[in-house]
Parts: sequence; structure tokens; C-alpha cells
Amino acid sequence: MKIFIDSADVNEIREAVSLGLADGVTTNPTLIARSGRNFKEVIAEISALVDGPVSAEVTGLTADEMVEEGLVYAKWSKNVIIKVPLTREGLKACKRLSADGIGVNVTLCFTANQALLAAKAGATYISPFIGRLDDISHDGMGLIAEIVEIYSNYPELKTQILVASVRHPRHVTDAALLGADVATIPFSVLDKMFNHPLTDSGLAQFLKDWESVQG
Ligand code: E4P
Repeated sequence: MKIFIDSADVNEIREAVSLGLADGVTTNPTLIARSGRNFKEVIAEISALVDGPVSAEVTGLTADEMVEEGLVYAKWSKNVIIKVPLTREGLKACKRLSADGIGVNVTLCFTANQALLAAKAGATYISPFIGRLDDISHDGMGLIAEIVEIYSNYPELKTQILVASVRHPRHVTDAALLGADVATIPFSVLDKMFNHPLTDSGLAQFLKDWESVQG
């Protein structure tokens, strides 16, 4: 499973790259706003740091507006792929951008039917938001299981499942067990994935025992 970093913070992304754990990056308008930086500048800087796809999200509401924005963003770097919302207009834009050979990440997916439509529209990635579903007492990971099954029933659908709105390390484990193509992970969650108290206590004990036999 590929790991994307769900962040617009270049320091976090640089650290993930140095760990060899940034196969790509996803941003959204909220993450860009949180960075406090100019959109184009931050996307260009992230694209120079990572080898894989960097999602830049459109904010237009019509397909024409989204395509216009997408064509501009795609020129910023060869790594940039265009994130469009899962609306009728978003899927029209997806179809047009994909036909132009531009990678598209369809975002704000909350049902298996939406994922099916995005695949039919030629999306490169579909982003089901599992954390936001869990937040309203729905089953985020159940949605991933449904999409995995539907896409595997139809091998002609080439869209990759990009698990988004990841809130904790168990989401990552479950996404990998289901065979999702990608999980996009906030840096704070990636950080937690390294940790286990038995690793810490085991290492402390090894070091203590080693120290005791040194002259
Ligand atoms: C990534 O593509 C999504 O925009 C992001 O994972 C959403 O996460 P959130 O639900 O924590 O805002």
C-alpha cells in the first residue's frame, strides 16, 4: 500500500520524505489555509520535495471552472494531480481532465455508488473519507470494503482507492488489510505508527543489560 502524506506543511513532508514514507501528498483548501502560505508556492515546493503525485484541489463549482483551474495547476509541476469534489460537475470535470491525460483525485466520497461513478468518469484516485463517516456513527472502513469489492468485480475500472480522513493508526492497518491502494495519512498519525510501549521498554532493557557487562 502506498502512503501519501495528508498535509500542506513542508516541514512534515520533508521529514516523511527523509523516512522514505511519502509516496505522494494530498492537500485540501483547509490544509492550505492552515499552512498560511500562498497556494501555488506551497504546491510547487511540495512537488519539488516528493517524487509522487501531489493533489491540488479546485474550488470552482462548475465543470468549466474546475477544468480551467485544473489546467492551470497541472502546469505548476508534473507531479500535480487535480482534486475535484464528487458532484455531477466534479465528475464532468474529471472526465475532461482525465481525457487530457491529467491525473484526477475525486474527493469527498461517502458512498460506494459515488465511488462507482468516479471510476466510470475515469478518476485516477477515489478518496473515501472514512474518519468523517465514523464521526457520524457510520462505518468508514465498511465503505472501503465495499469499494474494494466493487472495483475488483470490474477489472476494467482502473481507479485507485485512496483512503482519506484517516484519524488513527488502526485505520491504516485496516485499510492495508482490505487491500486499499493508498492511505493518505496526517503526519501525527504516521508518527504514532512507529510507537509501541514494548519496543521502548525492550530497548531500555537491552541497553541496561549491555551497560552492565561493559568494563
Ligand atoms: C485528503 O485528501 C482529505 O482532504 C483529508 O484526508 C480529509 O481529512 P479530514 O476529514 O481529517 O479533514
